[in-house]
Amino acid sequence: MPSMIRLCAISVAACAGVLAAASCPGSVSHDGQPAGVFKNVTGIQVYHAYPPSQSGSNIEIITENAILFITDIYGVPLLQNRLLADSLARANYTVIMPDLFRGDAVPVSSPEGPALNLTEWRARHPEHEIDGIIDTIVDYIYDLGVRRLGGVGYCFGGKYVPRFMAINRGIDVGFIAHPSNLLSSEIEAIVGPISIAAGELDGGFNSTLRRNAEDILQKMNSTYQTNLYSGAPHGFAVRVDLNNSRQKYAKEASFQQAVTWFDTWLRRG
Ligand SMILES: *[C@@H]1O[C@H](CO)[C@@H](O)[C@H](O)[C@H]1NC(C)=O
Ligand SMILES: *[C@@H]1O[C@H](CO)[C@@H](O)[C@H](O)[C@H]1NC(C)=O
Ligand SMILES: *[C@@H]1O[C@H](CO)[C@@H](O)[C@H](O)[C@H]1NC(C)=O
Ligand SMILES: *[C@@H]1O[C@H](CO)[C@@H](O)[C@H](O)[C@H]1NC(C)=O
Ligand SMILES: *[C@@H]1O[C@H](CO)[C@@H](O)[C@H](O)[C@H]1NC(C)=O
Ligand SMILES: *[C@@H]1O[C@H](CO)[C@@H](O)[C@H](O)[C@H]1NC(C)=O
Repeated sequence: MPSMIRLCAISVAACAGVLAAASCPGSVSHDGQPAGVFKNVTGIQVYHAYPPSQSGSNIEIITENAILFITDIYGVPLLQNRLLADSLARANYTVIMPDLFRGDAVPVSSPEGPALNLTEWRARHPEHEIDGIIDTIVDYIYDLGVRRLGGVGYCFGGKYVPRFMAINRGIDVGFIAHPSNLLSSEIEAIVGPISIAAGELDGGFNSTLRRNAEDILQKMNSTYQTNLYSGAPHGFAVRVDLNNSRQKYAKEASFQQAVTWFDTWLRRG
């Protein structure tokens, strides 16, 4: 195993150094132009990122598998979220990322400043509303002909992927990073394989909560994985200081964690 990990890291480094990011199927883009398209799904703006073989097509493509991307509070406007969706698409997945906040995502420039009261913002986007949007999008994806659905969730979205991994909710295989407000009851209801990326410096999903999640998943005999990244703060799988080598590693390795998980449990599961 160590030799495989080394090989992978070397090929990614070589690829990033020599070729354009678009030619690196296993790596995450840190910058560039988003390659996906927005479509209006019953009034919800939904970002679609297609695998390379299907890009440029106007026809709604039917694939065996797809990934539902449930964002953080910065939502679809955040470049890093669209680049993450594009990166998963380059790994050969159709990725569907809805605007959960109907045009009211938290602006990244003023996350907690006086311009935005997060308590009021949360009250405008209650759980039942988010559940309803995800239900609509899950139905939309299955209506396209998708047979098995993966889910990725970051921060805010890290609560909703487990919610939709409960029986008959729609997500078969999940990956979450630094989840917010994830309840024990939501973990206990998970049916399929779940992979979790946790940051050492994330107070929101701290060591107590992570160990609690591990205890529950182990007790249920779930197919699960938890990876703990040193020096990684809340949000690390989406937004990092690329000049900080621990943070940069945490973002890149957690992306690989997600791709390996889906290649194993979504494609072949
Ligand atoms: C999106 O579609 C809905 C109907 O499905 C329509 O009412 C709405 O005007 C559309 N919005 C945009 C921005 O096209
Ligand atoms: C991409 O996935 C499709 C099915 O979803 C498969 O037919 C194709 O071989 C895959 N391509 C690569 C390069 O893995
Ligand atoms: C944010 O809004 C809540 C509810 O309206 C209010 O109680 C609170 O004082 C506000 N916080 C700030 C910093 O304005
Ligand atoms: C983690 O957070 C929970 C909930 O806020 C708290 O009860 C617990 O003491 C925290 N654990 C650590 C190690 O800070
Ligand atoms: C746990 O799950 C695995 C895989 O499904 C199965 O082979 C094993 O028997 C289970 N263990 C227990 C104790 O149920
Ligand atoms: C990262 O380092 C480069 C080169 O030292 C510098 O130009 C850039 O501003 C730094 N970026 C951040 C976000 O600190």
